[in-house]
Amino acid sequence: MQMPKIAIIGGGLVGLSTALCLSESLPQCSVTIISETFSPNTTGDVAAGCLIPHAYPDTSLQQQKEWFKETFDHLLKIANSPEASTAGISLLSGWQIYKTSPKEIYPFWSDLVLGFRTMTDAELAKFPGYSFGQAFTTLKCQSSLYLAWMKKRFQNHGGLVHREKVINVWDLHGKYDVIVNCSGIGSRNLFDDLSIYPVKGQVLQVHAPWLKHFIRDGDGSTYIYPGISSTTLGGTREKHDWTLSPDAKTSKEIFERCCSLEPSLQGSRVIEEKVGLRPVRSAIRLEKEIMIKNGHQLPVIHNYGHGGGGFSVHIGTAKTASRLVKELLVDLRYIQTKSKL
Ligand SMILES: Cc1cc2nc3c(=O)[nH]c(=O)nc-3n(C[C@H](O)[C@H](O)[C@H](O)COP(=O)(O)OP(=O)(O)OC[C@H]3O[C@@H](n4cnc5c(N)ncnc54)[C@H](O)[C@@H]3O)c2cc1C
Ligand SMILES: *[C@@H]1O[C@H](CO)[C@@H](O)[C@H](O)[C@H]1NC(C)=O
Ligand SMILES: *[C@@H]1O[C@H](CO)[C@@H](O)[C@H](O)[C@H]1NC(C)=O
Repeated sequence: MQMPKIAIIGGGLVGLSTALCLSESLPQCSVTIISETFSPNTTGDVAAGCLIPHAYPDTSLQQQKEWFKETFDHLLKIANSPEASTAGISLLSGWQIYKTSPKEIYPFWSDLVLGFRTMTDAELAKFPGYSFGQAFTTLKCQSSLYLAWMKKRFQNHGGLVHREKVINVWDLHGKYDVIVNCSGIGSRNLFDDLSIYPVKGQVLQVHAPWLKHFIRDGDGSTYIYPGISSTTLGGTREKHDWTLSPDAKTSKEIFERCCSLEPSLQGSRVIEEKVGLRPVRSAIRLEKEIMIKNGHQLPVIHNYGHGGGGFSVHIGTAKTASRLVKELLVDLRYIQTKSKL
């Protein structure tokens, strides 16, 4: 039997993690990533990469919880291994603070992170104007290291990588047996999905090595995430804005907001300003579609729309997408066994 060929469109966080999972779980297939951009030029390269779920209103909570748990547990093992520094994964503790108590004191993911508890008055004293807070330990991916590490592992498993823009998905017909669509915001043009839209986010990378805890305003507007080599300050959420250039006035505002949460930042040095477009959709699209044109079939597995929370769920969605690819290959009789993924 011929080796089934799988093409992944998109080499960002979602495409790379899906490609790696496929190459590990289906060694009898050839897996190729086709992407217009790779790290350091993807959305994930801008992100703080902190594992704090962002809720998708039209994805069931149970499903979101499973994806988050799979991702957290997988990355926790890496963080506790000698690979941690090359993979760029580390534990991070800190505080999520509120001016008024939130509706949910225990969010759906509170039992999945480590040591979740409400903050004491002594801890809250550091944040004038804030009356409630949650303290917990989570994980952070330093995206530049993490994306490079995944790409290397994928290539070590025989995975192939092409830098190219796919203009029409039918151009891949006949060359690949299954297409996996991880094109993020690119799917708006490539697959005519008008339900996906960009939410622009701007962040600053600063040098502030004395900071060891994250601080996040519970409304998500302002955050400080210390990382391995720099601290990420954010952020902004501008819907339908496609511009990828940082705005100086916005940077100044972000810096001031972060300094009001953590005055010691006044003494930090800005290293870089960055902008990314979150591929926002009311639900992550993770499903099979058999596209048909002129009597030809093109099987596609969609995996996109991770919005502002891709890092928090990407291992879970990569596993689900890999399972769907495998089911499709069995249905199409490319592979026979239904061995466990
Ligand atoms: C400022 C900011 C902060 C964030 N912070 C966090 C955080 O702390 N925690 C968290 O969980 N998430 C965070 N996120 C969200 C996270 O970064 C995204 O969910 C994730 O990066 C999306 O990954 P993706 O692979 O779907 O998209 P992308 O990285 O955009 O990848 C899509 C890829 O597809 C390629 N592509 C598109 N169309 C085509 C085509 N036609 N042909 C070929 N290639 C194509 C692109 O070139 C690109 O490589 C943040 C995002 C931003 C912007
Ligand atoms: C990232 O973008 C820059 C500027 O457009 C380009 O020179 C570089 O080759 C890109 N890198 C990758 C890996 O795509
Ligand atoms: C990926 O999904 C988006 C959303 O439906 C769609 O617009 C795009 O055409 C899809 N790409 C492929 C190759 O199927």
